Amino acid sequence: MTAAAPGPQELLDTELAWWTSSNEYFGAAVAAASKTEAGDLPVDPRELRNALGRFATGVCVVTTRTAAGHAVGLTVNSFSSVSLDPPLVAWCLGRKAPSLSAFSQADYFAVHVMAADQHALSMHFARPAQDKFAAVKGEFEAGIGEIPVLKNPLARFECRKASVVEGGDHLIFIGRVERFLYSDRPPLLFHAGRFLDAATGSR
Ligand SMILES: Cc1cc2nc3c(=O)[nH]c(=O)nc-3n(C[C@H](O)[C@H](O)[C@H](O)COP(=O)(O)O)c2cc1C
Repeated sequence: MTAAAPGPQELLDTELAWWTSSNEYFGAAVAAASKTEAGDLPVDPRELRNALGRFATGVCVVTTRTAAGHAVGLTVNSFSSVSLDPPLVAWCLGRKAPSLSAFSQADYFAVHVMAADQHALSMHFARPAQDKFAAVKGEFEAGIGEIPVLKNPLARFECRKASVVEGGDHLIFIGRVERFLYSDRPPLLFHAGRFLDAATGSR
């Protein structure tokens, strides 16, 4: 990892900015649902977000490359296995994300499950930037369809895009796994808006 590791306060600010913003990400989705769905759900978006956050997840970085050759990637915790036969995985991308058009047009993407010692890299890919790869080029190599793949993730799934499904203010990307690898190290976890080191239990 060659990117400068952010200080603790910077990490906290970024994590909380993403997690607590009521207009972006979850908040907007829930507010929209409460207005538009039958019966006007009596749902407090912030409370629902807090409740959903009790579901501990891993942390992934998803990457692709545009037709013009520009590498694109972001941090997600919406990754899920879908099917073994055929081998399918899914993840969700916010409709307002700057990387939306790149992922919508791409034929391939790679999902990297992050290890506990990849916290800084995970935060790096959770911040919007013109070229997120410039500072971390050494961490990547060319994968399927020439997309950038992380050399040393906890697990890696190189996928051909199978379908994209509407999901409120997110799009659900489903990919068919064409190649994968994994190693045995502690995972990076995300719970209640904070990263959690599975090895030490510290936040
Ligand atoms: C732990 C964590 C999980 C996240 N999960 C998602 C997710 O599942 N989907 C999503 O669209 N954004 C998610 N985000 C926010 C994106 O990483 C962030 O908005 C990023 O800047 C988007 O990349 P882009 O600006 O290049 O489009 C997550 C952020 C963090 C810190």
